[in-house]
Amino acid sequence: MTLPSSGGTDTFEYDLFEASRSGSYLERMFHRRRVAELTRIVELDKQRVLEFGCNTGAILIPLRRSGVDVVGYDISAANVDRLRVHLVAEGLEAKVHAGELPEDAQFDVVLLVNVLEYVTDKGSVLDKIARHLAPNGWLVVCLADPSHPFIRFGKLRTFLSGRSHDDIDEAEPTRPLAEPEFLELIITRGGRVVRRAWGMGRLNCWYAVKLRKL
Ligand SMILES: C[S@@+](CC[C@H](N)C(=O)[O-])C[C@H]1O[C@@H](n2cnc3c(N)ncnc32)[C@H](O)[C@@H]1O
Repeated sequence: MTLPSSGGTDTFEYDLFEASRSGSYLERMFHRRRVAELTRIVELDKQRVLEFGCNTGAILIPLRRSGVDVVGYDISAANVDRLRVHLVAEGLEAKVHAGELPEDAQFDVVLLVNVLEYVTDKGSVLDKIARHLAPNGWLVVCLADPSHPFIRFGKLRTFLSGRSHDDIDEAEPTRPLAEPEFLELIITRGGRVVRRAWGMGRLNCWYAVKLRKL
């Protein structure tokens, strides 16, 4: 399920949409729960939504299926190519971008789900998002808790999820982000966390954030 590398340093080229369909019971439940939790933390209906770091569509495709106006963006061209294939197979349409977003694109909600953990320059990702958020827009962040046993003991997760060791070695987050560091990134950008909710037995934490518009 690993895709050919596009050469970017921060890419995570594991086909999560495929895993959400054909992974182990735990893996499939993980993706379903994330979509359910996400739709509880912020209203997506009639909003212009961007999924930043959409990978191959594990979140984007279920949202599209339920009628959400969601655009995808990922740094990896290989991930976006695979997402396009999945969209066609599912009979769905969505705008998806690799590498860069159109300069003037504006969104009411930007989703950043399990992405910051994989990013070296987290601040520049947040600044980029702030430029694409409409005034009064929401940033929704989901972060894996670095102290959760599934994150601390990657091999346990590998075993239970059914992902292969080779794939997981390549895909594991190497830059876990603890909450204080995340809050500092938000506060130093003039932002604030308005809502916070644990998900999935405290594996993930969800944040609804107001960022200062850039
Ligand atoms: C673990 S995946 C999460 C995918 C999806 N959001 C989900 O939850 O199913 C992280 C994704 O972020 C992308 N990514 C990493 N750094 C990025 C960046 N600087 N800009 C855009 N996408 C990035 C990776 O290529 C990968 O597809």
